[in-house]
Amino acid sequence: MPDEVLARASAEMFTRDGSGVSVMERPFTGDVFRAHLAHAQACLRQLLNLPDHYRILFLAGGAMHQFSNVPLNLLGNARVSAYADSGYWAKRAIAEAQRFTEVAVVARHAGESPLAAPDCAGWQLPDDCAYCHITPNETVEGIAYPSLPDFGSRHDVPLVADCTSCFLATPLDISRFGVVYASAQKNIGPAGLTVVIVREDLLERSAPNVPAPFSYRLQAEQNSCVNTPPTLAIHLAALVFEWLIEGGGIEAMTLANRQKASRLYAAIDVSDGFYNAPIAREHRSTTNVRFHLTNDALTDVFVREAELCGLTNLRGHRHIGGIRASLYNAMPEAGVIALTEFMAGFAQRHG
Ligand SMILES: Cc1ncc(COP(=O)(O)O)c(C=O)c1O
Repeated sequence: MPDEVLARASAEMFTRDGSGVSVMERPFTGDVFRAHLAHAQACLRQLLNLPDHYRILFLAGGAMHQFSNVPLNLLGNARVSAYADSGYWAKRAIAEAQRFTEVAVVARHAGESPLAAPDCAGWQLPDDCAYCHITPNETVEGIAYPSLPDFGSRHDVPLVADCTSCFLATPLDISRFGVVYASAQKNIGPAGLTVVIVREDLLERSAPNVPAPFSYRLQAEQNSCVNTPPTLAIHLAALVFEWLIEGGGIEAMTLANRQKASRLYAAIDVSDGFYNAPIAREHRSTTNVRFHLTNDALTDVFVREAELCGLTNLRGHRHIGGIRASLYNAMPEAGVIALTEFMAGFAQRHG
């Protein structure tokens, strides 16, 4: 989370309001929390330029909860749903969905080297398909779609996106989507909260047997308060939304993120093969920059020495190894400059 937000939150955290209640203790049924909830929704609506026919839900839990909630709420009378397999998180979404629906995998990520997002052209969706699910930014592999898929004549099929790692960090034309969801811990706030944005006409699809806290329809009807929502996380999310608005919104954040990512990819590309990024250039993520040391035996040394310089959390995901630098919104350009300087020095010492 941004320094400014943490400073504001820590000042607020232990202060009690006129009724003797701190921000951590507010009852979700009370007027004060309801006003904060409305404010958080209004800020997010402003940031996304969200049309009125989309509803914002602030739900407890993580993005993985939505891997089940999406089929539970969107299948309606259909049996089949379409998924694109773009990598680690898409595969996990598919595995969960298969508990509830027949999954047609309509596109797959391409190649091993370089890796790329699925080709966006001419997806063949099954006739009775309820929705099509994509993962625009694959956090583990560091792959991002350069554009949205083309459904040809099937634009009636709602597009659903797990935007967990790119939400509020890259442009989002919400009108192209039926549902977008993102858990909070990357660009929104602390873990435990997930934002779900649903097009209103889809709410009626929620099956009657969907448990109440998981029902998009009931949560929309009761303004995310079917049961106790993560009140503190929502409050902190509103502080992050305010920080984003003050900083120029998603447009400014996109520019800053592109600049940070270009700086880091440039450091990899000029290293004469000491470092390599295995993702096709136009599919490189600007939020999760994945690279490898060509001499993999140096990876542990790199991570250890980087930590000594205060550069932490750089080890790649356990399934693919290497290095991953996550450049979420709160990461300042100075952090990237420090990393690139460290990388140049490391290559000199060990090359
Ligand atoms: C794209 C994506 N989807 C889903 C998840 C899982 O999120 P959660 O741990 O909030 O369930 C993650 C976590 O990193 C992610 O990056």
